[in-house]
Amino acid sequence: MKILLAPMEGVIDHHMRAILTGVGGYDGCVTEFLRITDQQLPARVFKRTAPELLGDAHTPTGQPVIFQLLGGDPEMMAFNARKAVELGAPAIDINFGCPSKFVSRKNGGAVLLREPQRVHSIVAAVREAVDMSVPVTAKMRLGYEDDTLALENALAIESAGAAELAVHARTKVEGYRPPARWEALAPLREALSIPLIANGDIRSVQDYLRCREISGCNDIMLGRGAICNPYLALQIKNGTSKEETPDVCWEEISILIIACAERMKQDYPNKHIIMRIKQWLGMMKEQQPQAREIFKQARVMKELKEVENILREVTQ
Ligand SMILES: Cc1cc2nc3c(=O)[nH]c(=O)nc-3n(C[C@H](O)[C@H](O)[C@H](O)COP(=O)(O)O)c2cc1C
Repeated sequence: MKILLAPMEGVIDHHMRAILTGVGGYDGCVTEFLRITDQQLPARVFKRTAPELLGDAHTPTGQPVIFQLLGGDPEMMAFNARKAVELGAPAIDINFGCPSKFVSRKNGGAVLLREPQRVHSIVAAVREAVDMSVPVTAKMRLGYEDDTLALENALAIESAGAAELAVHARTKVEGYRPPARWEALAPLREALSIPLIANGDIRSVQDYLRCREISGCNDIMLGRGAICNPYLALQIKNGTSKEETPDVCWEEISILIIACAERMKQDYPNKHIIMRIKQWLGMMKEQQPQAREIFKQARVMKELKEVENILREVTQ
């Protein structure tokens, strides 16, 4: 079983990747997308998206950091994929899932799923541009308006040479509205020879077991579930036969948040760090009752020290 940490723009940066993969259970993680339009981007832009490229392109605990590109021009995607690999990216992922209304046909994302031929051309161009030892992967939704082209797109991605495909089990139009439709992954799973990685709404060990049963996919990608419960990947790896998801120790989560804030001090001003902690607590509060209480207090705080102190109180 393989578990990947999902890309989440504005939420999972290199600090979060380090903290979450450090907990354990993850086999790799994917960067936030880098948008490719009509030029070859300079090295500094790649390193800003993935500061791990300054080292060995792995997280501190050794998980590969897969570099994600988003764009609709095969030639430009190929140029920039080559650049990412030159800079040390161990694998390239192509984004066919971004629902942003600013993402046009030219710029890529889920809108490309209306044109499987174009999807094929982009994956094939990137595959051809980089050494065969570097895996090229893709991440897509079930479709744009509906999922009638899901299988065609998945097969286009496979035949263009992708090593694996992650599918967020919703269309662009469905946005993030629950539930994710894991059942729609089953026909893709059956038709593909490459691994299919199920994604969407896996927030507990029970969800994983149900998703696996319904979709037939062993491999998964965790996004919001990983933020809400940093131990989720580890629990899934350790407890796939258990009925219940083990309780999460809130003290340990507080320690992780404090450690993440400490790391962020290398790069960000306090104001940004406070915003990020509030964002994390805000996402957690749906699933962790203790986070709700701390979020309520932290929401009005303006000083980083204050926020750190209430987190520290929990750990004492
Ligand atoms: C705030 C946010 C940012 C995201 N950024 C990206 C991104 O950069 N690239 C990408 O492929 N998917 C992105 N996604 C989609 C997630 O990777 C994932 O497919 C989606 O959240 C469903 O999985 P989950 O239910 O486990 O969160 C983003 C999702 C959210 C909520």
